Amino acid sequence: MRIDILTLFPEMFTGPFTESIVKRAVAKGLVEIHIHNIRDFSKDKHQRVDDYQFGGGAGMVMMAEPVVDAIESLTSVRKYDDIIFMTPDGEQFSQPLANRFSLYENVILLCGHYKGLDERVREHFITREISIGDYVLSGGELAAGVVADAIIRLIPGALNDETSALSDSFQDGLLSAPVYTRPAEFRGWKVPDVLLSGHEKNIHEWRQQQSLERTKTRRPDLME
Ligand code: 6GU
Repeated sequence: MRIDILTLFPEMFTGPFTESIVKRAVAKGLVEIHIHNIRDFSKDKHQRVDDYQFGGGAGMVMMAEPVVDAIESLTSVRKYDDIIFMTPDGEQFSQPLANRFSLYENVILLCGHYKGLDERVREHFITREISIGDYVLSGGELAAGVVADAIIRLIPGALNDETSALSDSFQDGLLSAPVYTRPAEFRGWKVPDVLLSGHEKNIHEWRQQQSLERTKTRRPDLME
């Protein structure tokens, strides 16, 4: 898979992609992540990428031309499964969407900033709009990092057995069961006996029961 990220703040991506599972997926060649600075596509002598909005009102708007030039520099070379605009008014990101995106060959994540993006870019170039939740971030960068991480860990080979995606919360529509490690007793608090029993069927049933109970109490909305 190839992920191209278009941003005004490329430095924001040095952290999240150079650790842990994502780092390993990149090292294994399972995913290529390319970060592009939209400012590099400005034709303006001051490298402007934003301007006042027509009709007045507070907040700058990302200009169409540098964004479109950045998009076309990529789409002229290869086909993209989706050109995704990261924006708080997009479709809410979810595990099913992560699963679907993890099958993509090439994807562009465009990070929004300022008051928004000139609507004509959204109409004519963007194929999908994604939000990561009902709150406003100062830009789409952290959201793009979240989406990229959720996708990359699902690429076959990115996870080892220990980190298998099958038992993730949400993967079966339920929250995952609690987990424990050594010691079996810590400050007098014991690990549930069933987990020490070695009885696989009982352990499986206990985990399913716990998943169900947790989901009922914490996320009743998922129970429908
Ligand atoms: Cl994708 N962008 C911004 N700026 N804020 C958000 C978001 C995206 N998703 C949730 N909040």
